[in-house]
Amino acid sequence: TQTNMWTGRFASGMAQSMVDLSFSLQFDAELIEEDIEGSIGHGKGLVESGVLSKADYKKICDGLKSILDDYHAGKNLWCDSDEDIHMAVERVLTERIGALGKKIHTGRSRNDQVCTDFKLYMRHRAAEIRQLEIELMETVLDLSKKYFGKMMPGYTHLQQAQPIYFSHYLMSMFFAVSRDVKRLDNFLELHSQLPLGSGAMAGSAFPYHRALVAEALGFKDVSPNSIDAVSHRDMMLEFNADLAIIANTMSRYAEDFVNWSSSEFGYLTLHDAFSSGSSMMPQKKNPDSMELIRGKSGRMLGNFTALYTLAKGAPLSYSRDLQEDKEPVFDSVHNVKVILRVMKEALETARFNFETMHAKMLPALLATDLADLLVEAGVPFRDAHHIVGSLVGDAARAGKQFTELSDEAWAAAGVPDVAKMKKTLTFEYSVSKRNIEGGTGPKSVKQQFTKAAALIKKL
Ligand code: ARG
Repeated sequence: TQTNMWTGRFASGMAQSMVDLSFSLQFDAELIEEDIEGSIGHGKGLVESGVLSKADYKKICDGLKSILDDYHAGKNLWCDSDEDIHMAVERVLTERIGALGKKIHTGRSRNDQVCTDFKLYMRHRAAEIRQLEIELMETVLDLSKKYFGKMMPGYTHLQQAQPIYFSHYLMSMFFAVSRDVKRLDNFLELHSQLPLGSGAMAGSAFPYHRALVAEALGFKDVSPNSIDAVSHRDMMLEFNADLAIIANTMSRYAEDFVNWSSSEFGYLTLHDAFSSGSSMMPQKKNPDSMELIRGKSGRMLGNFTALYTLAKGAPLSYSRDLQEDKEPVFDSVHNVKVILRVMKEALETARFNFETMHAKMLPALLATDLADLLVEAGVPFRDAHHIVGSLVGDAARAGKQFTELSDEAWAAAGVPDVAKMKKTLTFEYSVSKRNIEGGTGPKSVKQQFTKAAALIKKL
């Protein structure tokens, strides 16, 4: 059996099975930096209100910092009786600086302590992930500029649709990621209130300058209600949702890049460093990096589901179930960081096979442009659509491209000025018609570069 901090109330320690169920140090040690940061901030509030002398506070801070240093140096600080990171740090502190170490928990419950630590943790990780996103955006913008002018087939339903610039495709990632960054910014803005001072659930009974602690810990404000502060898990849900959406964004591109890496497409050759081989088939080079990004994005939803289910039935304010809110978030943080790093590095080192992209462009990509030309010649759009559709259909049944049908066949279908029309219809013509803001036209793509550069500056 196990003895614990609250032995005053108890006649017996915990059963080993209960220890196995209850103890969380093996995962919540991940919070050590924020736990120590939180305690240093908390102590500042205790000094201000006269609960702690300046000299004692200094000893506590030095003790806490020595624990963190030892942790980073890889020293084994923990013992079997440490239930979670919060109690473990307090125990080690008390062993190092004596009874004074027990004072740091004055006016604090683990309930508001855990919420503060976890909030700090998520805010820090959000800032780091935000930075990784910005680095990916920079890579994407660089590549888009570098390969400006290269064309490829654009797809809907994975069927060739319209000619586009490769840069136009890639810039779609830039703007999608910029929204994922904005989502993190909104998250940081919304969840910027300090829980400390809330105590177990009713508020601390000690005089405590909450605003001062909030400022010391980088929060904008203090939580306005102690029950709300220790109860709610919307912050974890939102953070995980934001991370899941980031992974979802990456997964969409990963899916395209898996396809592009196939011999059927041949548009993309991932560097060996982002590929894997086969244990049996010597010729294989598989796009595992992209498959894993696609795969890992699934577990982000699993993590969200776990958090949502955990929180929805927990009564206010604290129940021990809430301890289970940590691992899914840690897992999502870890995975989203890896995903973003791999996507950036894989893109930077990849070879894009523009000749293949160009060679695969089918004339049918220009069907919309022919219909548009007919409209310009006065044919109503619905009729124009039908005329071009019948040409494409006839050609398909004859095993040809619609551009290969004779001038007579085009004229018979209702196309005026056939020779001129055929001459006009090129991939370059198609994109040049799409200089509308946001389109794939060359001017429009350059405008996207300008917008992107301005957007990055503001982040
Ligand atoms: N390890 C616990 C958690 O993370 C600490 C909070 C314990 N609070 C309590 N009232 N038992 O949730």
